[in-house]
Amino acid sequence: MSNPTCFYLLMSFIVVHLLSVDQSTATTTINNDVIPFIRMSCNGTEYPHTCISVLEGDPRSRTTTDLKNLTRISMEIVYEEAIELNSLFIKAGENATDPILKSNIRLCIGEFDIGSYHVKIYGIPYFDEGDYANANGQIGYIVGGSSNCNDTGTKLFNKEVETSFNFSCSVLDLLSMLPS
Ligand SMILES: *[C@@H]1O[C@H](CO)[C@@H](O)[C@H](O)[C@H]1NC(C)=O
Ligand SMILES: *[C@@H]1O[C@H](CO)[C@@H](O)[C@H](O)[C@H]1NC(C)=O
Ligand SMILES: *[C@@H]1O[C@H](CO)[C@@H](O)[C@H](O)[C@H]1NC(C)=O
Ligand SMILES: *[C@@H]1O[C@H](CO)[C@@H](O)[C@H](O)[C@H]1NC(C)=O
Ligand SMILES: *[C@@H]1O[C@H](CO)[C@@H](O)[C@H](O)[C@H]1NC(C)=O
Repeated sequence: MSNPTCFYLLMSFIVVHLLSVDQSTATTTINNDVIPFIRMSCNGTEYPHTCISVLEGDPRSRTTTDLKNLTRISMEIVYEEAIELNSLFIKAGENATDPILKSNIRLCIGEFDIGSYHVKIYGIPYFDEGDYANANGQIGYIVGGSSNCNDTGTKLFNKEVETSFNFSCSVLDLLSMLPS
């Protein structure tokens, strides 16, 4: 758990949710200008740079100017990144011989397996029911899983794991901006 702020946010979701920071700026859709909309929405999150680069790089998010839709797309991206990381680590594990490396790779495979399962099977359905608090908890599996994988010190797919951590943290913030 190398990022206390993100975990604090996760633990104190209710409080953060009630404060509902930056809701007015994030939900503004006045100019229908999509790229500024992504920047504006990401600006209120913990990792704005990662949030912007991931969302500007995705054709689905580039065509929405609605915070709810943007957040749902973000949850799908979190899921897809976890699936991708799971398969990258599975491939890396095929030829690994060092027992410590193998065990670290197994941990990462497990984290992204469990995390992707939670986001897909519970998180997105909770979101669709408007239950953002429970959707938040499911994204937390990716936040924690990315952190645990990174903490093994295995330098494999460092950038992707960090992107997964940063982006999933930002998605927690997007969820907290949605009016319930
Ligand atoms: C991001 O937020 C800062 C301070 O909260 C503000 O000064 C800046 O204009 C915002 N940028 C965008 C693109 O909304
Ligand atoms: C949000 O997504 C729904 C379902 O995909 C779509 O029907 C709706 O037009 C979108 N709204 C905006 C403002 O993008
Ligand atoms: C594992 O080794 C096989 C045989 O040497 C090779 O073809 C394959 O590309 C390797 N896989 C990875 C992920 O390095
Ligand atoms: C990942 O691990 C490195 C040390 O190997 C640490 O400096 C960094 O803060 C960690 N990042 C995350 C997101 O846990
Ligand atoms: C994650 O966020 C930190 C802090 O903003 C940044 O330094 C780092 O480059 C980001 N990592 C990735 C892979 O986007």
